[in-house]
Amino acid sequence: MAGIIDQIKERVDIVDLIASYLKLQKSGINYKARCPFHNEKSGSFFVSPDRQIWHCFGCGLGGDAFGFVKQIEGVEFPEALRILAARAGIELHHGGEDHGQDGIEWQSQKTKLLDISELATKFFEKQLWQSDVGAKALDYLRSRGLTDESIKNFRLGYAPDSWDALSNFLQRSYASKEIFDAGLVIKKDGGGYYDRFRSRIMFPIGDLNGQVVGFSARVFGETAQNPEAPKYVNTPQTLIYDKSRVLYGLDKAKLDIRRQNRCLVVEGNMDVIMSHQAGAAHVVASSGTALTEGHLRIIKRYTDNLDLCFDADDAGTTATDRGVDLALAKGFNVGIISINESDLKDPADYVKKYGSKWLEYATKSQPFMEFYYKGAQKLFDVATALGKKLFVQKLVPFLASMANKIEQAHWVGEIALVLKTKEELLYNEIESARSKLAIALETESLPATNIQKAEAGLDPQEESLLSLIIKKPALIGNIKPEDMEFLSAGLVNLFEQVAPSEPPGKPIEGQPLNVLTEPTLAMKMDLAYLKSQEMWKDFKEHELDEEFGKLIGQIRRRKVSARLNDLEYEIKTAEKAQNKERLSALVGEFSKISKQLAN
Ligand code: UTP
Ligand code: MN
Repeated sequence: MAGIIDQIKERVDIVDLIASYLKLQKSGINYKARCPFHNEKSGSFFVSPDRQIWHCFGCGLGGDAFGFVKQIEGVEFPEALRILAARAGIELHHGGEDHGQDGIEWQSQKTKLLDISELATKFFEKQLWQSDVGAKALDYLRSRGLTDESIKNFRLGYAPDSWDALSNFLQRSYASKEIFDAGLVIKKDGGGYYDRFRSRIMFPIGDLNGQVVGFSARVFGETAQNPEAPKYVNTPQTLIYDKSRVLYGLDKAKLDIRRQNRCLVVEGNMDVIMSHQAGAAHVVASSGTALTEGHLRIIKRYTDNLDLCFDADDAGTTATDRGVDLALAKGFNVGIISINESDLKDPADYVKKYGSKWLEYATKSQPFMEFYYKGAQKLFDVATALGKKLFVQKLVPFLASMANKIEQAHWVGEIALVLKTKEELLYNEIESARSKLAIALETESLPATNIQKAEAGLDPQEESLLSLIIKKPALIGNIKPEDMEFLSAGLVNLFEQVAPSEPPGKPIEGQPLNVLTEPTLAMKMDLAYLKSQEMWKDFKEHELDEEFGKLIGQIRRRKVSARLNDLEYEIKTAEKAQNKERLSALVGEFSKISKQLAN
């Protein structure tokens, strides 16, 4: 196991890895980003190519490639291993007997479901390309304008018109219960299972790494004859598929989204594939659901610029309004792309007709306010009182969520002009809409991001102290013997790793940490090292000394007040027990420490 972990670490560069999730910015010899694990405006998240680690000074999380994947994908070690092995091009051999020496179960349930989904994808692909009915589905896809290359790239498939073709195939390798857990079959009333997807064109849905986690299945052939059959059937919620977090096409779009620094969200699977085919690869869709906050949180890792292009029907209009609202609340710059030809209802139609012209069209969005403003002008007759009222009702909520005051003032001016009304009245409307908005936001539950401390982390103040000493080892001499007792044993132990003979100011180069055999110690050291590079970058010698003094003071005060708390409790216990001797000793200590604290 250790061998594989090292191999993976050798092949996966942490900067590349993290850059596939976040916008990284060069910062000296390190890289910097806004932390994806807590909300922040400035970037406290750093990546060190030297040490192959990452560390956020804000929330304290940090670690290596495995720690990052675990944290950002919300998975346990076996999945992180699998994801990184795939990235490194290392094959993991697993089967029932394959348990790691360290007792780590390789085949966690999630990885098994991923395997089943992958096998099902291959099955559907084979049906599409090699069966007679599949050939018809293939013709249909081509007639929609898809190239064979796109069909293969997105791994489209065909589910035969059968109650058990897929299950029979999968049962050779997996138990029925497992196939059920992957969402591929439905329980019969009388016991047993039947295939969920029958006579449908299959769109596999990938996670960020392109591993298939579910399917979206479009009616075709026999089922299309049945007016009751829903147009799309989707994988239900499973251990690996959560529709409120998965975006269709994101695995293929993420690099382009970062490169172009914008993301376009469309409605349908076909729209995504056709867009990519036309060269617009920054396009994704939510699958089988409206856009959620979870989707937006994921997109936010890559860009702040979000465009929407939904169908021009009622459903699409509602989806747009809601999407704009959510995206504004998340702080996106929101744009709209509208297709203004009556015979073209969505991006797929547009690409079919105009091909790569879509690439240009798809990157020139209209600011959302302009879109609504023009829309309202067409919709309402502002010569009438009713028209004015409806016009204002439509636009005011968006004005209220506009963060930029200058932009807001611009639109208030425009609207006042066309309505022939006073700006002041509009501001009143905005004010009352805003208080409604504030109430709505307040009652909205906080995201359930539960930040754990870094596995290998020190507490932030102690880590800062260590990082200062790495920056300027001579500072060790400034710690008074009586302060040593306030520092944790772990920290004092780490001090000893910093060679005091190093000339002041020069950080330790390379890996002189051969004394450190315990990996968590090495990790603590590495994290503090990164902090020393970044946090104290622009500090002058005397400023370092001052910071050091401040930190020692803070740590001392914190430890002392913690001791006082304990003493208070012990004093109460001694009082109850009427242990006079102990009581007077405790009270003595209490007043001594209180005096120390006052100093
Ligand atoms: P559309 O009806 O616009 O489908 O629904 P489409 O992808 O454009 O399909 P074509 O162009 O007619 O072939 C948009 C998306 O909404 C979801 C699907 O994810 C679909 O891609 N949807 C739609 C469902 O989940 N269930 C449905 O019954 C319909
Ligand atoms: Mn469509």
